Amino acid sequence: MQKFFSFLILIVTVFSCSPTEESSTPPVRTGVIADSAMVVSAHPLASEVGIQVLKSGGNAVDAAIAVQFALAVVHPAAGNIGGGGFMVIRETDGSVNSLDFREAAPLAATRTMYQEADGNVITDLSRRGHLASGVPGTVDGMVSAHIEYGKLPWQELVQPAINLAENGFILTEKEASSLRYVNEDLEDFNTILPENLLGEWQEGDTIFHPELAASLKLIRDLGRSGFYEGPTADLIVEEMARGKGLISYDDLISYRSVWRQPVRFTYRDYQVISMAPPSSGGVAIAQLLQMVESYPLGEWDRLGAETIHLLTEAERRVYADRAVHLGDPDFYLVPVRELLDSAYIARRMENFSPDRATSSDAIQAGKIYPESEQTTHFSIVDQQGNAVAVTTTLNSSYGSHVVVGGAGFFLNNEMDDFSAKPGVPNMFGLIGGEANAIAPMKRMLSSMTPTILEKDGQLFMVVGTPGGATIITSVFQTILNVIDFNMTMQQAVDFPRIHHQWQPDTIFTERGVLSAGLIRQLNNMGHLVDERGSIGRVDAIRVLENGKLEGGADPRGDDTAIGY
Ligand code: GLY
Repeated sequence: MQKFFSFLILIVTVFSCSPTEESSTPPVRTGVIADSAMVVSAHPLASEVGIQVLKSGGNAVDAAIAVQFALAVVHPAAGNIGGGGFMVIRETDGSVNSLDFREAAPLAATRTMYQEADGNVITDLSRRGHLASGVPGTVDGMVSAHIEYGKLPWQELVQPAINLAENGFILTEKEASSLRYVNEDLEDFNTILPENLLGEWQEGDTIFHPELAASLKLIRDLGRSGFYEGPTADLIVEEMARGKGLISYDDLISYRSVWRQPVRFTYRDYQVISMAPPSSGGVAIAQLLQMVESYPLGEWDRLGAETIHLLTEAERRVYADRAVHLGDPDFYLVPVRELLDSAYIARRMENFSPDRATSSDAIQAGKIYPESEQTTHFSIVDQQGNAVAVTTTLNSSYGSHVVVGGAGFFLNNEMDDFSAKPGVPNMFGLIGGEANAIAPMKRMLSSMTPTILEKDGQLFMVVGTPGGATIITSVFQTILNVIDFNMTMQQAVDFPRIHHQWQPDTIFTERGVLSAGLIRQLNNMGHLVDERGSIGRVDAIRVLENGKLEGGADPRGDDTAIGY
């Protein structure tokens, strides 16, 4: 972590140089440059799996499937088969599509399942343990993606993950410390202790996942029915019975991922393609970018009070909309067209004051839990120019902390993304209402924002990040960094991030990146500022003017770009 903060300070120094200091500005940091193809993911071994699939003639969707399974092994805090996610696809001919493999509430879920008789919300129940899990969507999602777009045989895409799980792999320092951290909780939430995860893990240790390897073999050999039926389904249902969870055979057999029309809009000269509800990401990013579009951001100081104030005020308004209007469109009439209407967006900014913070309504202050924002994103471009952006998650780190006994994988705690009760914040401090109330088979609202940008009808960028509520603002700022502030992909990824989500009415900033003077200036405008740990882990790819690709891997994690 210390290394990361020193790195942030270097980055801030680089970007705070005034024009007169330009001659001494260090060289621009660029990411990995490649001629034809690129994979950027949260772990070097997963990126390597993806690139090998591309080199074997697989396309970007094939590589995404292989990376998804590999991350379930090498980055188990967020990579998963027991969770869900979203995939945005742009083919080289310009056609686009998106896949919702978000988890769904079990059939036995009820609107008030996390409330006591007096209406008090028992937050722990939706965050840890068996009741926290939605029905996993990842395996069905990968099978659907393969049926629709896959080129290589399915077995070849699952096998690399099996190899990693069975033969073992070496832990990075971050993965070792993450496992040490979760070890403390495993005993509290597991009916059968996952022995292979226990230990005082250190960087350089080799870890094996034999039970996960067996589960992956069933998926390799039987596809969807290797997870939602047969031995793995038995193990999930038995686990639920031991831990008083809700997921049943009916839930597993009836789960289906859904192809959805992505959200599409224009920002300056760029066309943006992002995820539609049940993710709030696409709608939110569209509102944010369009709220700031009329301002000459490129002429402003990227870390100046003027810029931070404008971004904050846009974010405040967008997250207020999110809390009321966004939910699963199969259960609630989400007013997407109205939210994206340019007149509506202009009206939302009518009361924006360039020098005064607008107060958020004091409905209920949420609390941010920075350590819990685990999700993972990967971006892929193949040699034909097809692009895939996938954000996938167990929700917080290691999800519910429940490992399915005998099956070796963590189950998500995605039920916390529902609104357990109107106005009561979830673990990310996000508030919701009717649109995101719990109902059987309904998908919980997400912030995941896998996004692809085009310029002049050609692929321009693939971007996304983990980070819970901060996902939307991290993607927003990364796009602005490239388009308005003319940064390289790597600079845009490295750049310090700030976040505001309406409630709590506070600007969160990565620790040490805003000077005391700037914080005072923002305070004088009416903003509260709070420092916290790192925000997001953006993994992105940009197509350069010469047609080459620049991969930007986030230095906040083990994230790695590999190209050729
Ligand atoms: N679980 C984080 C999200 O979907 O937004």
